[in-house]
Amino acid sequence: MIGLPEAFARSTVEREGERGAAWLAELPGIVEELLERWGCVPDGEVMHGGVGLIIPVRRRAEGTAVLKVSFPHPGNVHEPDAFSAWGGRGAVLLYERDERFAMLLERIRTSTLAEVDDGDEVLTIAGRISRRLAIPAPPGLPRLREQADAWEAQLRKDAGELTHTLSRYVVDAAVATVRELGRVQPDTLIHGDLHARNILRAHREPWLAVDPKGYAGDPAYDSGTLLKSRALTLLNADDLRKAVHRTLYVFAEAAELDRERARRWAQFHAVQAAFWGRRHGFRMARSGSRLDWLTEFADRLAELLTEGS
Ligand SMILES: Nc1ncnc2c1ncn2[C@@H]1O[C@H](COP(=O)(O)OP(=O)(O)O)[C@@H](O)[C@H]1O
Ligand SMILES: [Mg+2]
Repeated sequence: MIGLPEAFARSTVEREGERGAAWLAELPGIVEELLERWGCVPDGEVMHGGVGLIIPVRRRAEGTAVLKVSFPHPGNVHEPDAFSAWGGRGAVLLYERDERFAMLLERIRTSTLAEVDDGDEVLTIAGRISRRLAIPAPPGLPRLREQADAWEAQLRKDAGELTHTLSRYVVDAAVATVRELGRVQPDTLIHGDLHARNILRAHREPWLAVDPKGYAGDPAYDSGTLLKSRALTLLNADDLRKAVHRTLYVFAEAAELDRERARRWAQFHAVQAAFWGRRHGFRMARSGSRLDWLTEFADRLAELLTEGS
């Protein structure tokens, strides 16, 4: 029987409560059954991310693979659909899937793009991956344009209800992005959680993506996902304005995205994050002075992104 990593078990229960504990109790059984059904044997140390357990395995047909089983959450439903549509282009191959949020995937290396120090290189690689993943979306994936009304309503609610210092101008710019870019979006497949820890070193291609949400929408949407994931790096910048615009510039160039569109989506994400922090806190800090400090930083990013470079 496979052992569950302690940190994974703890964070699952902290986040999901009793449902998390119930799922953890079932998990070894699910793993055993799928290993058996798919003819796999464990081969190496069990890994994990925030929501998924990753078990390196061997299988006769493919050689090395990983079994990923994620906590059953609506946000993880379309991950296999996205892998299947890409068919290995820019992302790992999907070998098998099971409705219990499980997949058998091509195994690649464990080192991630987050280990690369050169910021421009990280952004260029992430941008190229984003470009490769931008293919026509299959039917059945969540359309981001269908979220536009809810986004707008939430922005207005947050701006009205929460104590905050974002100027009207900044909030209005985010609302305008939702109205002008959010309501009509192409049916392009996008990763949806593009950040350096979800891009791994590989063999067939130098880098491949894992862990997609699998949305259909404007590929420039992921500029915001990526920019948020760079926030901690940006904290150390001497000239924050310059660093923020450089981040967007390098990513947009490599992803072949319109810079202005990328900036507007990133601004929208930053405003959302500034409000989210006030309502729910961030994973890095749920309360206290550290949360205040991160929220202020999200405000600054939102302000800087409201202007062009
Ligand atoms: N196909 C794979 N090959 C090798 N390692 C993987 C693979 N998929 C995931 N991993 C490892 O497991 C970690 C978490 O995987 P991920 O799919 O991002 O899980 P989560 O959804 O929990 O974030 C990755 O950072 C990587 O180290
Ligand atoms: Mg991940």
